[in-house]
This record gives sequence, C-alpha cells and structure tokens, in this order.
Amino acid sequence: MKAPANVLVVGGAGYIGSHACKAIAARGDVPVCFDNLGAGHRELAKWGPLVVGDLGDGATLAKVFRDFRIDAVMHFAAHAYVGESVTDPAKYYRNNVASTVTLLDCMRKAGVDAIVFSSSCATYGIPDSVPITEDHPQRPINPYGWSKLMVEQILKDYQQAYGLRHAVLRYFNAAGADPDCDTGEWHDPETHLIPLVLDSAMGRRPQVAIFGTDYPTPDGTCIRDYIHVTDLADAHILALDQLRRGLGSLVFNLGNGQGFSVREIIASAERVTGLRVPATIASRRAGDPPALVGDARKARELLGWLPRFQSIDTIVGSAWAWQRRVAAIEPKGAA
Ligand code: UFG
Repeated sequence: MKAPANVLVVGGAGYIGSHACKAIAARGDVPVCFDNLGAGHRELAKWGPLVVGDLGDGATLAKVFRDFRIDAVMHFAAHAYVGESVTDPAKYYRNNVASTVTLLDCMRKAGVDAIVFSSSCATYGIPDSVPITEDHPQRPINPYGWSKLMVEQILKDYQQAYGLRHAVLRYFNAAGADPDCDTGEWHDPETHLIPLVLDSAMGRRPQVAIFGTDYPTPDGTCIRDYIHVTDLADAHILALDQLRRGLGSLVFNLGNGQGFSVREIIASAERVTGLRVPATIASRRAGDPPALVGDARKARELLGWLPRFQSIDTIVGSAWAWQRRVAAIEPKGAA
C-alpha cells in the first residue's frame, strides 16, 4: 500500500476547497489546509491539519512546505465576487494573481512541481456560442475573469521555464453540497442564486430578485450550467492522478453540459422544498452573460470524469439539506 501523500489545499476551508479536502482524505491522502479564514470557515477544515495564514505571506507558506513534505498543491483561494472585482480590482489582482505567484515560487523552492488550479468559465466572457469548449477564445469581461486568465498564462510560462506542471480546471457554476452534509456553501455575503432561492423558500430572506427577464433565452432569464461541488472535487482527484503520472499542461471545462434558467432553478427549489419561493423581478446585473453552458467532453474522455449528481433537483436538494443545517447554526443569518 502506498504511503499517504500530503496535498496542500490552499483555500481548503472554503466551499469547493473543503469538498476537495474530503475527497483527498477519502482516498487515503492527507489534505493540509492553508486558509486565512477570510471567506473560509474553521469548522469546514476537518479532514487534515489546518494552517491559518495568508497566501501572500511567503515565509509562512515556505514553512508549510518544509513542515509537511508537500507532494502536490490544489489552489482554491481566490476572491470570487464578480461585481466587487469591478469596483476593487486591486484586491483581485493582489490576491488572485500576485499571491498566486508567491505560492508558485514557494513550490519551486520546495521542489514541488504539480498544481491543480481553480479557474473559471468567467475567462470566456460572453461566449460566441454554447456549449463552450476549452478552445473557445478567452475574453474576460471583468477583473475576476482576468485574474483567473492571468494565472492560467503564468502557469503556462512556469511550465515552460521551470517545469512546473499544472491542471487548470475551468468551473461552470459550482452548486449543491456534500451528500453527507459534512460541508457546503457558506458565503458571507451570499450572492449565489441557489442559496438565495432556498433562503427565500425558508423565510430567511423576504424574496429573491430575478436579475433580468429580457435576455435572449426561452424564458428571458439567464441560463447557467450548475455542476455539483462533489463532482468538481472528484475531478480534482482525477486531475491530480494525471499530474502524478507525469502529465502536465492540462486544461478542462467542468460542467454538466446542460443549462438551467433562473426561473427553472426557482421551479426546482419549489419541487424540492415543497415551499413557494417568493420572487421579484429586478433589472439585469452588470456583467452577466445571457447563457453559459460548458462542454466537458474532454474531462470525460481524458480524465474519465463522470459527474454523479447531474439532476438539477438532486443538486438543489443537496443544497437544501445543507442550507437547513446552516440555518440551525446561524438562525439570524439572513443578510
Ligand atoms: N441571479 C439572480 N438573482 C440573484 C442572484 C443571481 O437572478 O439574487 C442570477 C444571475 O444573474 C445569474 C444566475 O442567477 O444569471 C447565477 O448567478 P450566481 O451569482 O449564482 O452565479 P454566477 O453565474 O454569477 O457566478 C458564477 C461563479 C463565479 C464566476 C461566474 C462566471 O459563482 O465565481 O459564475 O460567470 F465568476
């Protein structure tokens, strides 16, 4: 039997990172969680050691590489509010880009040469057509998307110059929660559609606003490709396996290949909860493309990735179970 390897999970106390930590532990490796707990939660870092520190703090990071004999890195730590990235781009470029360079340089110094990086469909901007394949032109329309694309470029250059191998995973809309309810989506402030819809169903919020009903889509509301967070975590494990086999420069879209409109998400939530979701119509949110749907055939073919939770009601149902748990922890959580 192989000895457990230590995988550094930067941002491992956050939404997607915590699911990845669970998946790493489930296959017998040790997730070493590094998180500044700015957006992450100590309670979600429970599958391995937690080091509280900031990604930009090279000295603390270097010590983590020394103390834990790190084998590979998964990098989830990023600010991810598109609107905020427009009003405060410095915060995004400093944390998402500059601090990532600090991480990559610590890896080089420690002789660690494999990283799985969380990128985003936001790097595509407004797509020419959907579903989007990996070779679609990348034209971000906000600093958040640019910050992810810049890191993609930096990774290519580091591979070329220093042999640092990477797997870039471009997520579509991460959704749902761990089926055992061990972790889930817990943002403050919450801006994502599914938790807001569920909060409205349970009365923690008065209603959800539908941002725009005049998009060129069948029901006029935006379409997104919701992918279960546990399926995302599984893809990280498969990508890491490929890196361990010596491959590198991997880029994959991670989505379900199926789009759902805002109204369809509300309908799903009403089916799943048996409750009515109070909704109002609001104007469009700046920077929202009408439809984003991913073509993830490459991940299926090359990684053997098979999303397990494809039905939208299953995805929303898992979020619902988690949301009720969070409501019990934070009864006055409606922001
Ligand atoms: N929406 C509403 N009302 C709300 C919140 C969202 O109608 O209160 C709509 C949005 O306009 C959008 C859809 O629901 O059409 C999904 O919105 P989310 O905020 O849940 O997700 P986004 O598609 O904006 O964001 C996701 C990721 C980002 C990533 C982005 C790429 O969360 O990190 O995809 O486009 F940058």
